[in-house]
Amino acid sequence: MTTLDIKIAGDPVLRAKAEKVTKFDKKLIHLIKDMTKTMYMANGCGLAAPQIGLSKRIVVIDAGDGVVEMINPEIIKKEGSVVGLEGCLSVPQFEGDVERAEFVTVKYQDRKGNVIVEEADALFAIAIQHETDHLDGVLFIDKAVTLRPKEQFETDNNGM
Ligand code: CO
Repeated sequence: MTTLDIKIAGDPVLRAKAEKVTKFDKKLIHLIKDMTKTMYMANGCGLAAPQIGLSKRIVVIDAGDGVVEMINPEIIKKEGSVVGLEGCLSVPQFEGDVERAEFVTVKYQDRKGNVIVEEADALFAIAIQHETDHLDGVLFIDKAVTLRPKEQFETDNNGM
């Protein structure tokens, strides 16, 4: 497995609309494994493919219950509203409060192409919204209601 370089805000790949994945092959599995390793090495709880320079609709999330791999994720239902502190591995210097739906239902494909529909709340729901935004070229700083410089030695893990 390889750790991939994380692209930082200002890189145009982070502003592009990512392409749907149509091939569920060994290359995809390899890529997902590298993305997962990269997320963990960066102490993040989520990572989207554009963040490693690949404009494809792939995200990995670990909201505390192990890694969930989502290919072509689509939020099909949102409910409630919650404001929480977010950071982003592609915006390492800032953190801020973002308003999100409290509950989401997401439809995605697994690494084999099987369609899965899942309901999420808490950090998992936030991460799904943050990561699917990445696939549409949207960063949390576009939506943050407050934004502040991140403490340099902060270990608190809200990067995604
Ligand atoms: Co992010």
